[in-house]
Amino acid sequence: LVGFYPAFTNGKAVLDDEQDGFDDRYVIKFSHVVAENTPKGLAAQRFADLVEEKTGNRVKVEVYPNGILYSEPNEKQALKRGEVQMIAPSFSNLSVMLPEWAVMDLPYVFLSDDAVQEAFKGEVGQILFERLEKNNMKGLAFWSNGFKQMTSNRGPLTDPSDFAGQRFRILPSRIIEDQFNALGAYTASIPFNEVYREFEAGTVDGGENTISNIYSKKFYKVQKYMTISNHGYLGYAVLMNKPFWDRLPSELQIAIEQAMKETTDWINRYAVQMDKRYLEQIQQDGYTQIHVLSDNERAEWMLQWEPLYRQSERFFGQELMEAIRNLQR
Ligand code: LMR
Repeated sequence: LVGFYPAFTNGKAVLDDEQDGFDDRYVIKFSHVVAENTPKGLAAQRFADLVEEKTGNRVKVEVYPNGILYSEPNEKQALKRGEVQMIAPSFSNLSVMLPEWAVMDLPYVFLSDDAVQEAFKGEVGQILFERLEKNNMKGLAFWSNGFKQMTSNRGPLTDPSDFAGQRFRILPSRIIEDQFNALGAYTASIPFNEVYREFEAGTVDGGENTISNIYSKKFYKVQKYMTISNHGYLGYAVLMNKPFWDRLPSELQIAIEQAMKETTDWINRYAVQMDKRYLEQIQQDGYTQIHVLSDNERAEWMLQWEPLYRQSERFFGQELMEAIRNLQR
């Protein structure tokens, strides 16, 4: 297929000039940082397959996993410049550019998968998507990964006081930084594909991530302790370069939206099953000691994080915090 699909410059499709009946074949480069056997990795591939099927191969989606094209700190700029047409950054990563997205990082803001889905579909999702459009990005969907768990090499994390003095790798989110600082811990923001090395070298003691990321990147082999805390949620905003989107013929936009809807419905259910399977695998491998936080222990953690909610009102504004509170009622 060399030369079959058009090249792209600045998010503009260069039309295919071959005499093959179509003059508008498009390539979507989709860059992401995680492994292929994770919710995002699988969803990106399924989306690619569905798009090709539904557009009769007029749109080809090339998926670049594991940060081989761009890592988190530069993928958003690459999207804006049109060097890639799609990315799916975690909410925390997006908050570097759009601070309101850090609202999704508030600890224990979601207590169940249903609550997360409700937020995606409701007012919270709508407010957050509006911010994207203002920044010249087309928001296509929310994709689930799952709840985050705490890990450490220094000691078990059961009581809030266990965190004091430890250094945790974090995503670049103000709320996540505050979350650890509230427990007397230090933080270091490190790109995803450098985390394994830093755990191994001991420059950070611990981190927080989802089961599928901990499993697929083998973090559990270099972290002796894991607490099933489900304290935060890791999900993604699936984004497209807006000028590119706006230039697509409407019948292709409709087909892409349909492919995205099917992918999203599937991954948001399947991610939960994947989590269970990988947790069993981590348990069987026996590298890491697992503690499941009890209800009483969780109540202690929540108590420590209560002030974060009060501070957040000022930071996120009333509209967003009210929408968040409505979810918790
Ligand atoms: C992380 O850096 O831990 C996550 O954002 C990676 C991802 O995209 O799931």
